[in-house]
Amino acid sequence: MQKQTIIVTGGCGYIGSHTAVALQQAGYNVVIFDCCVNSTPETLDRITEITGVRPDFEHVDLTDALATHNAFEKHPHACGVIHFAALKAVGESVAQPVRYYRNNLTSLLNVLNMMVELNIPNIVFSSSATVYGNPTELPATEQTPLQPATSPYGQTKLMAEQIIRDTVAAHPNMHAVLLRYFNPIGAHPSGKIGELPNGVPNNLMPYILQVAAGWREKLNVFGNDYQTPDGFCVRDYIDINDLVDAHIAALQYMSHQENNIDVFNIGTGHGLSVMEIIRAFENATGVKIKYEIAPRRAGDVPAIYACANLAQEKLGWCAKIPVTETMKSAWLWQQNISDKKQG
Ligand code: WQD
Repeated sequence: MQKQTIIVTGGCGYIGSHTAVALQQAGYNVVIFDCCVNSTPETLDRITEITGVRPDFEHVDLTDALATHNAFEKHPHACGVIHFAALKAVGESVAQPVRYYRNNLTSLLNVLNMMVELNIPNIVFSSSATVYGNPTELPATEQTPLQPATSPYGQTKLMAEQIIRDTVAAHPNMHAVLLRYFNPIGAHPSGKIGELPNGVPNNLMPYILQVAAGWREKLNVFGNDYQTPDGFCVRDYIDINDLVDAHIAALQYMSHQENNIDVFNIGTGHGLSVMEIIRAFENATGVKIKYEIAPRRAGDVPAIYACANLAQEKLGWCAKIPVTETMKSAWLWQQNISDKKQG
């Protein structure tokens, strides 16, 4: 049987690269569309090392309608798109709203336009738990009311969900799955691919890794006086390898999807505090993390974690990887990039 082709936009990035590997290992033919503005084409070599198969690659800026057209025209028989390509730094989006709206929304519109033109039926979209804001209930279910976004980045996720909803409503042959990720962490167990933040990391896990590697002196822990069990913020940290499996499950589900669009939370269902994450890293790796309590970070919600029952019920997916393993894979990846930096 001929392999099904999936276009992975942003496939050189953190989540995209792990998804490309998982797709190839599940028997799909993968085409990556990326302009590598926040990633590197060397990721293609790493994917090839892991799977033994080099994904097809189109170096394309998806905000450019003509370039997007030309890239899609080369792959008219693709049966689905997993759309990751986007800018994702929350603070930066507040400082550069036009760039964020333009980039994240124009690229989505160009992708959808070509899907309609070429009759490519399936889209899996990487949405975010940020759409729940400070959730009105815990755990957050897919029915938990959406909140106005607190950053242009968050707003692009809300708007993108709506754009996809309207598009599949207008084109009944199209199907969409919106995956609302909680906090993805960790790396491929080989340590060959992982998260590569630009400059000072905004997110907790890459910051911890860079402190552990000696790149940064200490971690600032933002706030210890929240109304949570230990006073620290609580998040639902989901292993990247579990997370990407949800995309494979979503594609398989789309072959018999009854609705035109479904939304799933992708999290573990359990919250961990910042301090629990620090301790989990230390216990898994034996490396101590120097930290200091700092003021709260503007915009942080005290606690959010998923109810992921719907994904279990409909996709047959649930998170499986213990946090110790996640910490080990993250550390292996960090050691690999530290070696490269020194070498
Ligand atoms: C987690 C916890 C911080 C850094 C963001 C986006 C979300 C999603 C993932 C991205 C919080 C604390 C962090 C540090 C700390 N999208 N922290 N010191 O804010 O839950 O989610 O990233 O693509 O949309 O909003 O993740 O990793 O930044 O923070 O104490 O140096 O770690 O206060 O409690 P967040 P995060």
